[in-house]
Amino acid sequence: MSNRRPYVGGNWKMHGELAGAVEVTDNVAAAIGEAAEAVEVTLFPPFPYLQAVGDALRQCGIGLGGQDCSPHLEGAHTGQTSPAMIADLGGSAALIGHSERRNELGEPDALIAAKTRAALAASLQPVVCVGETMGEREAGIALQVVERQVRAALEGLSGAQVGTSVLAYEPVWAIGTGITATPDDAQSAHSMIRSLLGELYDDELADSVRIIYGGSVKAANAAELFSAPDVDGGLIGGASLKVDEFASICRAAVSA
Ligand code: 13P
Repeated sequence: MSNRRPYVGGNWKMHGELAGAVEVTDNVAAAIGEAAEAVEVTLFPPFPYLQAVGDALRQCGIGLGGQDCSPHLEGAHTGQTSPAMIADLGGSAALIGHSERRNELGEPDALIAAKTRAALAASLQPVVCVGETMGEREAGIALQVVERQVRAALEGLSGAQVGTSVLAYEPVWAIGTGITATPDDAQSAHSMIRSLLGELYDDELADSVRIIYGGSVKAANAAELFSAPDVDGGLIGGASLKVDEFASICRAAVSA
């Protein structure tokens, strides 16, 4: 890792219930403690729990984000949540383009680009997720797929907008499977993304953007993954609901 401030996100997905969400939040805040200064940590609870988790996080230095946001800023869009609503509840970030939305809901690249723009327009930090499926990896096109996804998501954005964003490389075959990419696998995707940022913008910007890895990250493998030079932290699913595991992962990001 470089002098980029490490970033760890806890994506709770569609797990838990209200009382448990508040309890996990309180415990995570206590367990991470002072490490929260050296690593940027953001929790992404399900939307109905955003306010309660935000209240529990108040003033502890841990950020709050939505697991998605609408590409629209307001209006007649039943069932959607605008980025401004996330901000209104104290949120500062939104996950965009998670593979569970790309694949289960068929979200295309153009929609992900529109959501990224909407998040930025509401001053949320987009955490844009990209990653290939196992079929794409086996076909030898993993890096091309990731490059296409990054180019599409960033289409038309200024360097300053990309500078406030985080990119998350999450190979689909590693998510929730217990199969983790090797540090070399992660590094090759991350370094390709960083070079692409250099080509699309400039080297200074490319060097400053956090690119995090997601897919079966646990306390036991976090330090090794985060030691890869272009891996700036992680986006954690299952292990983010286990307080001690998540706190260890945050500490591993600080020491990498
Ligand atoms: P797991 O850590 O459960 O594999 O999930 C990763 C993920 O999808 C985070 O967004």
